[in-house]
Amino acid sequence: MAHRIGIIGGDGIGPEVISEGLKVINAAGVNLETVEYDLGGDRYGRDGTVLPDEVIEEWRSLDALYLGAVGTPDVPPGLIERGLLLKMRFALDLYVNLRPFTYAENNVDFCVVRENTEGSYAGEGGVLRQGTEHEIATQGSVNTRMGVERCIRFAFDLASNRKGHLTLVHKTNVLTFAGDLWERTFNEVAKEYPNVDTSYNHVDAACIYFVQSPDQYDVIVTDNLFGDILTDLGGAISGGIGMAASANLNPTKTGPSMFEPVHGSAPDIAGQGIANPTAAILSGAMMLEFLGENEAADRIKEVCADPAVQVEGTSSIGDAIAQRLV
Ligand code: NAI
Ligand code: MG
Repeated sequence: MAHRIGIIGGDGIGPEVISEGLKVINAAGVNLETVEYDLGGDRYGRDGTVLPDEVIEEWRSLDALYLGAVGTPDVPPGLIERGLLLKMRFALDLYVNLRPFTYAENNVDFCVVRENTEGSYAGEGGVLRQGTEHEIATQGSVNTRMGVERCIRFAFDLASNRKGHLTLVHKTNVLTFAGDLWERTFNEVAKEYPNVDTSYNHVDAACIYFVQSPDQYDVIVTDNLFGDILTDLGGAISGGIGMAASANLNPTKTGPSMFEPVHGSAPDIAGQGIANPTAAILSGAMMLEFLGENEAADRIKEVCADPAVQVEGTSSIGDAIAQRLV
């Protein structure tokens, strides 16, 4: 039976890279039934639509969502991020943001498990007296025991299926309230996983180790904000933004999970046919893995790791990868 996938190409290079992803999935022999959704900055500019609740309801019956990138320079900052991407994460409870990094040249082979529904991205806070000299803005960080624990459990499960090492990254020495909740939960859950070695890094130190000795990592678990920043650094040490894939997972599978490249819509290179589609293709492989299509997923990942497929041009890279699969 075909997997039912919602496709959100989005803006800029989003549709360009997603069409290469679909080309490669097809070449790997996996049958998808796709439903297209026209969403993002362009759509907002045309009729003011961001993400209607009816669309979210429709998504609940799908097997997965495959997204390119959303955001255009003329849309006010935050509108699409909050109104579409964050709304999707919260509504579908995509509580794990999983980002694998592999780059043999730099001894990089690790995964970051980023909490995806809480922390400073939960929208807690507000403004008073905006625009006056007495203006005040607060932006708190929300950390629930339930939210932290389910993310940490996912990371332990992942580590026990990989090299058996898990690092908690936080800033427990300064963010003492949230840090304490994360650290205690981590240490308690660790007792259930005697097969997993654990360690702890402050986030600033982790930035040094990412660059100087990334081979010390297997799986990293961290909060929403630290994870956002660390994964950009992860991309930078593993072949660049054109290679970084991600999954926004609802591991309980009560609804669809969402798969997208880490990069944005890259308006500076959109429409030129030069975007690297590898990140989108690898995100497609993560989607196949989550759908149980492990063999196709492994083949795609193996082909993408071959530097010879990194030719010039979006569709040429897609073709080079697809040709090695058929
Ligand atoms: P960006 O990732 O779009 O671009 C950053 C730089 O990386 C640019 O120089 C771009 O040309 C380059 N780049 C990105 N992807 C590439 C690829 N596949 N191949 C080759 N080069 C690539 O980030 P930026 O400029 O901060 O944001 C642009 C727009 O994308 C904004 O509207 C932003 O809100 C949105 N965005 C959307 C995301 C999403 O949909 N999840 C994530 C990040 C940004
Ligand atoms: Mg980011």
